[in-house]
Amino acid sequence: MTHSKSLQLQDHAKNRIPGWNQLLSKRPDQFSAGVWPGYYKKASGVEIWDMDDNRYIDMSISGIGANVLGYADPDVNAAVCHAIQEGSSSSLNSYEEVQLADKLCELHPWADQVRFARTGGESMTIAVRIARAATGRSKIAFCGYHGWHDWYLAANLKTSDALNEHLITGLDPIGVPKELAGTAIPFRFNDSAALEAIIRDHGHELAAIVMEPIRYSPPTPEFLETLNKCKSLSGAVLIIDEISAGFRVTPGGAHLTLGYDPDIAVFSKALGNGFPIGAVIGKKSVMTAATTTFISSTCWTERVGFVAGLAVIDKYVRNNVHTHLIAIGTAVQTGWAKAAQTTGLDISISGIPPLSNFAFKDANPLELKAYYVQLMMDQGFLASNLFYSMYAHTLDHVSAYIAATTAAFQTIKDDLSQGTVASKLRGKPANSGFLRLN
Ligand SMILES: Cc1ncc(COP(=O)(O)O)c(C=O)c1O
Repeated sequence: MTHSKSLQLQDHAKNRIPGWNQLLSKRPDQFSAGVWPGYYKKASGVEIWDMDDNRYIDMSISGIGANVLGYADPDVNAAVCHAIQEGSSSSLNSYEEVQLADKLCELHPWADQVRFARTGGESMTIAVRIARAATGRSKIAFCGYHGWHDWYLAANLKTSDALNEHLITGLDPIGVPKELAGTAIPFRFNDSAALEAIIRDHGHELAAIVMEPIRYSPPTPEFLETLNKCKSLSGAVLIIDEISAGFRVTPGGAHLTLGYDPDIAVFSKALGNGFPIGAVIGKKSVMTAATTTFISSTCWTERVGFVAGLAVIDKYVRNNVHTHLIAIGTAVQTGWAKAAQTTGLDISISGIPPLSNFAFKDANPLELKAYYVQLMMDQGFLASNLFYSMYAHTLDHVSAYIAATTAAFQTIKDDLSQGTVASKLRGKPANSGFLRLN
C-alpha cells in the first residue's frame, strides 16, 4: 500500500490552505500525520478510496457524524440529483424549505417555527442571536462544544482554559474581540451547583443556557430539575444543541427521549447526510425574535440542503435507522472491550453507542492512537479511537473490524512491553485538541 499521492497533496495543501481546510477533526494530525491519507477520490456505502486508489472500510468518524446513512446514499443522492436537474438555485426560494420546516415541527411537536442555515456552528450562532434578541440580554451559560464563532470562543477570553473541559482544548481566542470577555460562562454537564451559581451571579443578564442533550452520559433527574428551575428563575432561553446527538437514538433530537423542555433545538450534520443543512427549531414565543434581528445569507436558500434533509428523514423514519445505529455501536463497544480483555490492553470506553469512543490508558496515549491508526490502515480499515455508526455498516463489517482491532491491540501490547512503539511509528503521534499546524 503506497500513500505517496495522498502525502504529496497534503504537503501542497499545507502551503496553499493555511492551517488546512478545517474541520479540525478531519485534520491528518488528529490521527497520524504522515500516515493518514487525508484526501479521498471516492466514497460509497462504508468504503473510501484515497488518492493512491487504496480502498478502506471506514470504521472511524463517518464524516464526523454527518454521514448517518452512509456515503453517497442512493436515495438521498437521487433526490439531490433531481433537485439539481430542476435548478438548485434561483431568484425565488425553493418550496422544499417549507416542507422541511413542517417535517421538523411534526417530529418535534413542542416546536412551532424553524430557521435554516448550512452549518452547525452558524446555526448555533443564529440560535444565540435569537435568544439575545428575545431577551434583550447578552450573557450565555453553556456546556460542551458549539462551534468556532465569537460568542463561544469568548469563553476563553477571561480564563484561557475555560473551554478545555468542553471537548476541544487549546482554543486560543486570538481574533475574538476582548470586549466579549465574561459573556460566555461555562458549566460542566450534570453539575447542578455550577449552573445554580451562574444563575445566582448572572441570572438577570442571562440570554440563554446552551448545552448538548447528551454526549457521554444522560442527564440526571436532579440536573434536569435544576435546569428547569434555573430556566424559569432567570427567564433564559434553553437552547439544546443536537448537531451531534440528533438523529442518533431517535428520529430527531435526543432531547425527545431524555426529558428536556427546550425553547430552541439546533440540528445539522446527520440531517443532510453530508449535504450542508442546519436548522434552528423553536417555540414561537422565542422564535418570533428572528423577525426583529437581521439574520440573512444567500446560500441558506439553496435547494439541495432541504431536499437532502427531507430524503434523510424519509429514509430514517421508514427504516428505524436509530435502532440499527445503536445495534452497530453496541457491537463495536462490546468488541472493543473483548479485544482489550483478550490482549490485556488497558482502555476505557464511553459515548452513546452511535457515537462511541475509547481511550488508551497506558502512558503516551497519543502515540498509541497513531500506532492503532497505522496498524488498522495496514489491514484496510480507516479507524481511530472514535467510531460513529452509519446505516450502511453491517454486523459483518463490525466482526471483521473487531478481528483487525484485536490483532492491532495484540501488536500494540507486544510493542509496549518491548518498548518499541515509537520506533514502529511511520507517522507522527496524534495531536489532541487545536494546535497550530504551520
Ligand atoms: C455539539 C456540536 N455543536 C456544534 C458543532 C459545530 O458544527 P459545524 O462543525 O457543522 O460548524 C459541532 C461539530 O462537531 C458539534 O458536535
